[in-house]
Amino acid sequence: MKNEITHSLKPILYMAPIMGYTTRLFRNLYHAHFGGFDLAIAPFIVAVGDQKIHPKHLRDVMPENGHGLQLIPQILSNDPAGFILLAKELHTLGYDTVNWNLGCPFPMVAKKKRGSGLLPFPDRIQAMLDQVVPRIPNRLSIKTRIGRKAPDEIDALLPLFNQYPLTELIIHPRTGLQMYEGSVDLEIFARCIDRSDHPLVYNGDIVNYQVFETLKSRFPVINRWMIGRGAIADPFLAPMIRDGEDAPCDRVNRFRGFHDALVAELAGTLCGPGHLLDKMKGYWTFFCRSFTEGARFFKTIKKLNQMDAFRKEVDHFFDQEAKWINTISSSRS
Ligand SMILES: Cc1cc2nc3c(=O)[nH]c(=O)nc-3n(C[C@H](O)[C@H](O)[C@H](O)COP(=O)(O)O)c2cc1C
Repeated sequence: MKNEITHSLKPILYMAPIMGYTTRLFRNLYHAHFGGFDLAIAPFIVAVGDQKIHPKHLRDVMPENGHGLQLIPQILSNDPAGFILLAKELHTLGYDTVNWNLGCPFPMVAKKKRGSGLLPFPDRIQAMLDQVVPRIPNRLSIKTRIGRKAPDEIDALLPLFNQYPLTELIIHPRTGLQMYEGSVDLEIFARCIDRSDHPLVYNGDIVNYQVFETLKSRFPVINRWMIGRGAIADPFLAPMIRDGEDAPCDRVNRFRGFHDALVAELAGTLCGPGHLLDKMKGYWTFFCRSFTEGARFFKTIKKLNQMDAFRKEVDHFFDQEAKWINTISSSRS
């Protein structure tokens, strides 16, 4: 078994792919301002058929656009020919590992038997792996949920995954039908540890240091952790988990520097202030969780329809009201 007790090792942290949020621009800025992550999985690229891949689908993973954070591109597909073509293209760009998305819960995706929609069909997964694994030049990892409808669908899949030389298995222990609701199933995750021959990465609901510590003590053999929404909300969380220290700093001001750089860079890439405002409102659904007055502030900016008004509200908030919720220190005291 590849999962062994790892008390003495530094945790290896993965930035989760969050489509529309953990884009190249965000990943680069985040890494420059906060560090903390060892690598990121990029939001998925869809692969269908053996047609040439349109350059716009590769823009997010073009190597010249990356700045220091190791990246693994992700493919959403149930079509071997399309997968192989895209994986080869990614290999020519320098990616020696690609990740297969078996977790996307959205009905539009799942009903086409992609993402978590494939999980009830082990035969199709096996056929896909039989076709793809010998024909791609890259190594393969898989990001999965524990099932589409039932949390024990993974039981039939683990022996199958064990037959292939995967680099690792990233498991978000919810079903597809749960979307992002309800609790993660830690019993099933524990069973996956016993039954998987591959190194496992835990993913799901690590929103503060305390949650991480609880998971770490429950799963001492796990040393690879993926964090998504919790890390967008609190960029000080990953450095704390990885380095084990809570370096004192003016969090509001450091966050503000990042936030303003994000607005400035997005303004240069999005078409018009309307898009920029929508994008920032999206980010604030996460950011607001780290401020004591965050929920009220988010209500205020949600109603705005001018970028100028947004900038004014944000400046006022940072100047007068913003207080960081220090979940790290409070959970340690
Ligand atoms: C808006 C949104 C977009 C997502 N996009 C992707 C994606 O492109 N690929 C993927 O594997 N997972 C995607 N996920 C799932 C996350 O990577 C992660 O598995 C999930 O959010 C649970 O981790 P967390 O609790 O740390 O956020 C997405 C999640 C959200 C909320």
